Formats: sequence, structure tokens, C-alpha cells
Amino acid sequence: MKQVETVAQLRQAVSRLAGETALVPTMGNLHQGHLALVRRARELAGQVVVSIFVNPMQFDREQDLRAYPRTLDEDLALLRNEGVDLVFTPAEKLVYPKSMAVHTRVEVPGISDIFCGKSRPGHFVGVSTIVCKLFNMVQPRIAVFGKKDYQQLLVIKRMVEDLAIPVELVGVDTVREEDGLAMSSRNNYLDARQRRIAPALYRALRSTADALEQGDKDFPALEQAAVERMASAGLQPDYFGIRRASDLGRPAVDEQELVILGAAFLGMARLIDNLEVRL
Ligand code: PAJ
Repeated sequence: MKQVETVAQLRQAVSRLAGETALVPTMGNLHQGHLALVRRARELAGQVVVSIFVNPMQFDREQDLRAYPRTLDEDLALLRNEGVDLVFTPAEKLVYPKSMAVHTRVEVPGISDIFCGKSRPGHFVGVSTIVCKLFNMVQPRIAVFGKKDYQQLLVIKRMVEDLAIPVELVGVDTVREEDGLAMSSRNNYLDARQRRIAPALYRALRSTADALEQGDKDFPALEQAAVERMASAGLQPDYFGIRRASDLGRPAVDEQELVILGAAFLGMARLIDNLEVRL
């Protein structure tokens, strides 16, 4: 496995890779969720490139950026073990040589402004900008993302469509702990008591999905009940919504492909999760 830090090294290394390339963009602190993406990439393409970059443009709070876990040595060991071909670990100066304030931005309006985009202003501009830049740097044929960040995946899909970026996007199902909690680097922030409370988000999604599957169509009442369930379990709900899976629009009563999205604060962590429901 080769590790490169500059675009020149990256270009040279990519040009030496024979066959199709799949890219898995990450911010490091890798867990089984990330590794599921790497394995999917491995199945889809001969060459797997993983990027590790804690992207300051997508953080809305300085404290969150500073606290974000950085575990490069462990990450590299995990990726080596998965048979990854190339790891790109650019320095912040390379990605944003001047300052972020004067860097070109890629904005996907509408879908970036709701749910996570509303709670974290500017977040998705940071995501679409860095992902666009990584696509241009690596020029992969395939890029693999987790459905854990469902809204992020839709934002990137829209960007790829709107800007005609020649890459195929692949989404991978959320990898969970045994009690349902979606794996996340931010779960490290939870103490033992909070860790016991955290699966209440998944349980609220699950019980809402069960109600939808049993024919309940009162979306506002289901959302309200889920928020109350989360709060009484000790979470501080941020949002909870039942939406159209394709674009997060408000669903008609006969909509068949739905997604339920939820987010909640718990101590230092903000948990997000979602479930797709097919009726
Ligand atoms: P990061 O949070 O490191 O996640 C990298 C990728 O792993 C994303 O596609 C995310 O959806 C996926 N992922 C995280 N936890 C997962 C889980 N439990 N199951 C399945 N997939 C999971 O998302 C980002 O980084 C950044 O926004 C990035 C796209 C790299 C741009 O900076």
C-alpha cells in the first residue's frame, strides 16, 4: 500500500494503477463502517484509493474540528489489512493553499439547507467542495459513500448530476453496533451512561418504520411521537422527519419509498441516523 500526500505524487501513483479505480473518501478514525465501504470498493474495482482528510470547511464549530479524533497510524494499519492500493493524506495547506475564505465553493442549494444543513450552516458546502475536489484529484470511475450520512449522499448525487462529473456513486448500508447504534467516529465522545442512552435514536427510527409498514400515514403524529420517545430516553432531539427517499421532499400519502431521518445531541456528541422504508 502506497501513501501519498501531494497532488503530484497522487497523479503519478494513480496513473500507475492498472484498471478501474474506486475512491472511498473519509476523515479517518476508521471503524467497521468505513471498512465496509472499502470492501465494497474492492468488489467493484481493481484499484482502491482511500482519502483521509479532516476537512475544516465542513465543520461549523471550531471546537468540533479541534476535538475530531485523528488516528492516522491505526487507520493506515487497518487499510493495509484490507488490501487498499493507495491512501491519499493531504495536508490542510495543500487542499486550501490560501485560506478557505477565498477558496472556490461548490454549493448544492435546497437539499443542503434542511435537516443537517439547517443545524450546521455551511456544512454541506464544505462537503460538496471537498468531494468535488477529491473527485478531480483522484479521477475515480466509482466513489463509495455510506448511507449512514443519507443526506450527504443525496447532496453528492445532485452535485454529480448537475456538474456532469464522470463518476458512478455507490451507497453502502449503515453498519451498526449490536444494539442498533450506527457506528460513528463521534461515538467515542460518549461516556458509559450516554452510550446506554444512544441506541434510543435507532429505536425511534425502528418503531416509526414499523408503524409506517403497518399502514400508519399520519406522518406529523409519528414524527412527534418519535421526538417525545427520544427526549424521554435522555436524548436532546435535533430533528426527526419522514421524507421522500429520492430527494427528501415531503411525501404524499401514497409514496412508497421513504426515508426516516433523525438527529439528536447527547453530551459532546451529535448523533445522526436514518432508515429507508419501502412500502
Ligand atoms: P466520515 O465521517 O469519515 O465518513 C466517511 C464515509 O464513511 C462516509 O461515506 C460515511 O457515510 C461512511 N460511514 C461512516 N459511518 C458509517 C457506518 N456506520 N456505516 C456505513 N458507512 C459509514 O463523511 C465524511 O467522512 C466526510 O463528510 C467526507 C465525505 C469524507 C467529506 O469530507
